[in-house]
Amino acid sequence: MVERILITGAAGGVGTLMRPRLARPGRVLRLLDLHPLPEPGPGERVELVTGSLTDPVTMAAACRDVDAIIHLGGISREDAWDRVLAANIDGTHTVLAAACEAGISRVVLASSNHAAGFREFDTGDPEGIAGESFPRPDTYYGVSKAAVEALGSLYHSRFGMDVLCLRIGSCFERPADLRGLSMWLSPDDGARLFEACLAAERPGFQVLWAVSDNTRRVVSLRAAEALGYRSRDDAERYAGEIDTDPALAPKYIGGAFCETPLGKPNPL
Ligand SMILES: NC(=O)c1ccc[n+]([C@@H]2O[C@H](COP(=O)([O-])OP(=O)(O)OC[C@H]3O[C@@H](n4cnc5c(N)ncnc54)[C@H](O)[C@@H]3O)[C@@H](O)[C@H]2O)c1
Repeated sequence: MVERILITGAAGGVGTLMRPRLARPGRVLRLLDLHPLPEPGPGERVELVTGSLTDPVTMAAACRDVDAIIHLGGISREDAWDRVLAANIDGTHTVLAAACEAGISRVVLASSNHAAGFREFDTGDPEGIAGESFPRPDTYYGVSKAAVEALGSLYHSRFGMDVLCLRIGSCFERPADLRGLSMWLSPDDGARLFEACLAAERPGFQVLWAVSDNTRRVVSLRAAEALGYRSRDDAERYAGEIDTDPALAPKYIGGAFCETPLGKPNPL
């Protein structure tokens, strides 16, 4: 049987990093984005969909014959309230409703550290901040991710779907700054975590921190590890390339997002 996974927002940064890493024999990746995606390379088993995840007709077609969804699409930084509401909250509702209608029982939702951005780095708890800690959003964007988690919880409780919400730290090729030494999710670990989310037997609804097992990690990996995730990377190997002056240490895990003007697009 062919396994088909729909990835929304697949043209974005995380989607581009995951496309080669989630390729498997016997698996088809159906990649959806507003923007056209690069054509398949030789031997690559992908199906390309250009369209909006906020459109129920597009999503109904995109969900046909799909086994699981990785929902990455939407606005990934601060923006005007109505734009964030439409893309991230209405959009996630459209994705979940289409998944439910199509009988797709597993959805992985990209949440964000910014859903809990006003949690302090220094908790005093050696285990770190738990995944299902109450949201403390730092922006309208962070509020939208808290709503994404709430929608996932609703669809699990009402319809029995398995919904894993990943509070992604900072998923890039390498950590960018001092905050990144705590919050980095290496692309390879990202793929390991997505695979664990796809493979776990009846995980139900969970909110998980999505970071590497960084030496300076302040969020808990307990739930992700219980699901089968094993990080193999640590941002510390880049510490020599980063200014680690303690004066630069942010108080809150959301970093600069905690100070960005609400509703104004900000640099990542
Ligand atoms: N990159 C990170 O470190 C990070 C950290 C925390 C959370 N996240 C979350 O992970 C997800 C992926 O992040 P990213 O860095 O790849 O973001 P990105 O901005 O690079 O990519 C998002 C993609 O979604 C697409 N998109 C936006 N609206 C759409 C719509 N209506 N229909 C279809 N596609 C649409 C965009 O075209 C874009 O390609 C996002 O949900 C983001 O909030 C990412």
